[in-house]
Amino acid sequence: MDNPFSAGPSSLDWSCNVKKSYKICCLPGDCIGPEIMAEGKKVLAAVGQRFGVEFVCEDALIGGAAIDACGTALPDETLDAARASDAVLLAAVGGPKWDTTDPTAPRPEQGLLKIRKELGLYTNLRPVQIFSALSGASTLKPEVIDGVDMMIVRELTGGLYFGRRERFYDEEGSGADGKPGQRAYDTLEYREYEIERIARQAFEAARKRRGKVASVDKANVLETSRMWREIVHRIHDEDYADVELEDVLVDNAAMQLINRPADFDVVVTENMFGDILSDEAAQITGSLGMLASASLGDGVALYEPSHGSAPDIAGKGVANPLAQILSVEMMLCYSFDMGEAADAIRAAVGAVLDDGLRTRDIADAGTPEENVLGTAAMGDAVVARL
Ligand code: IPM
Ligand code: MG
Repeated sequence: MDNPFSAGPSSLDWSCNVKKSYKICCLPGDCIGPEIMAEGKKVLAAVGQRFGVEFVCEDALIGGAAIDACGTALPDETLDAARASDAVLLAAVGGPKWDTTDPTAPRPEQGLLKIRKELGLYTNLRPVQIFSALSGASTLKPEVIDGVDMMIVRELTGGLYFGRRERFYDEEGSGADGKPGQRAYDTLEYREYEIERIARQAFEAARKRRGKVASVDKANVLETSRMWREIVHRIHDEDYADVELEDVLVDNAAMQLINRPADFDVVVTENMFGDILSDEAAQITGSLGMLASASLGDGVALYEPSHGSAPDIAGKGVANPLAQILSVEMMLCYSFDMGEAADAIRAAVGAVLDDGLRTRDIADAGTPEENVLGTAAMGDAVVARL
């Protein structure tokens, strides 16, 4: 063995009683955020107990909550806490209280975008899977969604989200009537290395799955897309020729996702297209409240539900905590290599659903009233099955 510290088990006997301990930076954020975060923590604690690992959770501010407390959506202390942690668990940011069209006013979403950028989280994994108990929840026909299991790999730190942008209030923006008007632009820019690394992530993911990648672009119009396509193909031909690669134009992808969702395995695309298509793909399952995501880079990773902060139901104790809980599953899998624990969470969620228990958003006309649980009761039900 090259590593002088791994001299074999006997030399490590002293450490056998020392529990592994991980520091989790928790960012509850806004609206339903704190409610679902509480359930994520419950599950972390339960899993830790069962698998002999200690998770030390510390809360920090982000989004509207941070704007209220410090005037900025991502205070330096939060970023420092995130950097010093082993993983970040985020709930949701945003709400009508902080909605504004004033470009100089802070917005909750800036906190999310900034933490992604600062931590270098360029890969966003959004799995789209259907729990069999919920197959009736989709608005698509059962035969269309049968077998849906895809992984959206969204580029997360480039493109339109982070390009140069500007808004003018000057004469140049004059309207046809000659009066002063406004003008604005956003730019979509990618560098070769940004596309290379996300393409590699997609091909690697495909190798662990069904070996297929659909690369989504708009190469018939956009220069960045033509470069995207070229680079994705080069990486494929050089290092991943065993993976099946298809190019899909983004407008067509929007259609095919509904037409033949089960055909897709890994879908890789740039930031903005990925934002839009991942919401669409989530709707295939019929339950946005069930989908988790992982944002990975070269350092600490961040895990969060794919859904938003649901201001309409905030504070009522009815939000679905399962996407938050499944984000914990992804954390165990990707940050801590605890595959067995991750599987246990997924199985527990599946069992809860098989038992007919639902939060309001995934209940239907046939769900008996006593099976409709609030946020905390749903978290408890998952913990009970762990
Ligand atoms: C998402 C969200 C964010 C995004 C918003 C809240 C900035 O929609 O994670 O998909 O656009 O990336
Ligand atoms: Mg989105």
